[in-house]
Amino acid sequence: MPIYFDNAATSHPKPKGVAEAMLKALTEFNANPGRSGHASALAAARQVLRCRERLATLLGAEDAMSVVHCFNCTDALNLAIKGTLRAGDHVIATQLEHNSVLRVLGTLSARRRIDVTLVPPRPDGFVDPDDIRVAVTDKTALIVCTHASNVTGAIQPVAAVGRLARALGIRYLIDGAQALGAMPVNVNALSCDLYAFPGHKSLLGPQGTGGLYIAPGVTLMPQREGGTGTESLNPVQPAEPPERYEAGTVNLPGIAGLEAGCAYVEARLSTIMMHERELTAALYEGLVKMPGVTVYSPDQESGRAGIVCFNVGDLTSAQVADALNGRGIAVRGGLHCAPGAHRFLGTVERGAVRASVGHANTFDEVDQFLAAVAEIMHR
Ligand SMILES: Cc1ncc(COP(=O)(O)O)c(C=O)c1O
Repeated sequence: MPIYFDNAATSHPKPKGVAEAMLKALTEFNANPGRSGHASALAAARQVLRCRERLATLLGAEDAMSVVHCFNCTDALNLAIKGTLRAGDHVIATQLEHNSVLRVLGTLSARRRIDVTLVPPRPDGFVDPDDIRVAVTDKTALIVCTHASNVTGAIQPVAAVGRLARALGIRYLIDGAQALGAMPVNVNALSCDLYAFPGHKSLLGPQGTGGLYIAPGVTLMPQREGGTGTESLNPVQPAEPPERYEAGTVNLPGIAGLEAGCAYVEARLSTIMMHERELTAALYEGLVKMPGVTVYSPDQESGRAGIVCFNVGDLTSAQVADALNGRGIAVRGGLHCAPGAHRFLGTVERGAVRASVGHANTFDEVDQFLAAVAEIMHR
């Protein structure tokens, strides 16, 4: 395996317990949770609940039933956005959003005649809540804000946006793809109604997992109908979460792995956070000092997630990513599914190189990475 600096796409490596938990689910209680009443099905259902409880703890949510299992963060964002908006609604999102928000809004604005306002960040890369306030109309039904940009890593003022949304009585969705598991999150302190997250990034779970926190009292239109193992005579989805939103068989092995990932993170969140912050600082400082390298991530350590985004000389991001790959280093070039962020940076043409750290990276790897970038620069 190369030096892996692509943790913002999906984390690697997973703790050993993740694969073990998945194997255990597949071999020891591989039954359909919440359906039959036999011992294996009950063990599977307990596993699904344990994961929900761990997720609730990491989110600071009181009720585990407010956490819905999804298949990734995109799935959670689709449920949150499509489950909220109706024809004629207005939605505010930031220009920094991922396509898992932007394309959902783009499709809805064509199909359901919703209006969308994208609020750009200020020159420092952070959205100003006042700019969101100015965009509010009497039709605004939803505000969407990414917790941290997946391009620059800039941590957005999500709590201040939450206070604004709460004061105005507007539903508020945070995209926590680059935050949950990497920093403390408390959905109450953030005043959010909806918090979407993947299981396979900083929560260290397997791919095919994710979830949506839905605050008590918030009801969404389900985006899938089907079996839940409950209320079988009811011709529509049950009213109560989580069944309302979890039609069909859930990803049991994935959820077992996710629970193990969450347990690992929960036990050492502050250590992981500190380690990733220091690694990111070392990457940032090393790159910023290199003549000919342009760094796009914020300079304040506390203002960025474990991401450093940059370009080298006049090379395209693909050339740099390929050259790093040739030296055994995995990063991501291109547009990172976030075209608005690249419009803001002026990097739509050549993209940018994103190095993103994880719990298992080392300072020695950072040194090797910096030496490789210097070599690519001078070749
Ligand atoms: C900010 C952001 N939102 C949403 C997503 C989508 O996550 P997933 O791949 O789990 O659907 C990503 C993935 O990179 C992301 O970075």
